[in-house]
Amino acid sequence: MDLNSVSLFTKNLTKHFDHFTAVDDVSFVVHRGEIFGLLGPNGAGKTTTIRMLLGLLAPTSGVGAVLGYDIVKQAEEIRSRVGYVSQKFSLYSDLTVAENFNFYGGVYGIARQLLAARRDEILRTVGLDGQDNVRVSNLAGGSRQRLALACALAHQPEFLFLDEPTAGVDPISRRALWDLVYDLAERGTSILVTTHYMDEAENCHRLAFVYQGKIVAEGTPHAVKEEQMRAQVVEIDCDNIDAALPALRDAKLFDEIALYGSLIHAIGENAAANIAPARDLLRAHGVAVKSAEAILPSLEDVFIARLRRADNSR
Ligand SMILES: Nc1ncnc2c1ncn2[C@@H]1O[C@H](COP(=O)(O)OP(=O)(O)OP(=O)(O)O)[C@@H](O)[C@H]1O
Ligand SMILES: [Mg+2]
Repeated sequence: MDLNSVSLFTKNLTKHFDHFTAVDDVSFVVHRGEIFGLLGPNGAGKTTTIRMLLGLLAPTSGVGAVLGYDIVKQAEEIRSRVGYVSQKFSLYSDLTVAENFNFYGGVYGIARQLLAARRDEILRTVGLDGQDNVRVSNLAGGSRQRLALACALAHQPEFLFLDEPTAGVDPISRRALWDLVYDLAERGTSILVTTHYMDEAENCHRLAFVYQGKIVAEGTPHAVKEEQMRAQVVEIDCDNIDAALPALRDAKLFDEIALYGSLIHAIGENAAANIAPARDLLRAHGVAVKSAEAILPSLEDVFIARLRRADNSR
């Protein structure tokens, strides 16, 4: 491993809250210019991990460094060099775009003149140019998130922590935000981003699935799909899903049955071999099957299969 290219590493990072383990033996590396995704359901431990990496919360055990600075002993150094859009990041809604930017820039101790010069450039980067005097209360959700990002960029951080930056944002604004993240990464900024939107995982260079504090899968989206998915997925399009779901679950032909909109995903080691028995079973339950075919697993399928395996090995 080229150590010069490592922007963040953590090893065996663990956090106990009393007897509860929120983060459990987490290790990973983020390289310069890399977009690393932490993916997981609510309560998985994503925010707690970020808080430890920023030196806002002391780890129970484990070590880590960001930009070469120790997360326990050099937290101040880290915080002055990284940008952080926290999950509950709040802008002042009664202040304008420019006033918010100036406020957060001031917190990072940037001189007024420098800040004014940077503001134009950064607001242009995030697509808010010309909106300096708009009150935040009049901005749409997507624009607010882009302003939050702009505020976190005021001190030109080398590393950016984004905790669920696209939660509650419409699809077009989500796309725009990701395009920005790509641009930043291409210019050398390293990025740790959390999300629970599975489709966004595909935007990361590498990602880790977190479940109950543990990393249960890690790699490029492609590798996670190709190598870590031993299971196959059969997509079933049928009428009467209310009858089909319990019938498939009871028959135990597959390890896991999940609903995707109006389609059923049946996941299992040899799922494709069970297409014919599944068709027979559904027919016997009065369900008309329009189609049932093996498909390439989505990241969400991989995630579900991984969670199932993690649950079964407890
Ligand atoms: N200060 C605390 N004291 C006790 N428990 C905590 C504390 N902070 C977090 N937890 C618990 O630790 C677990 C992990 O929380 P965390 O906020 O890291 O999850 P998350 O993956 O960020 O979830 P979300 O997607 O909801 O943001 C949760 O069960 C949470 O209730
Ligand atoms: Mg969180």
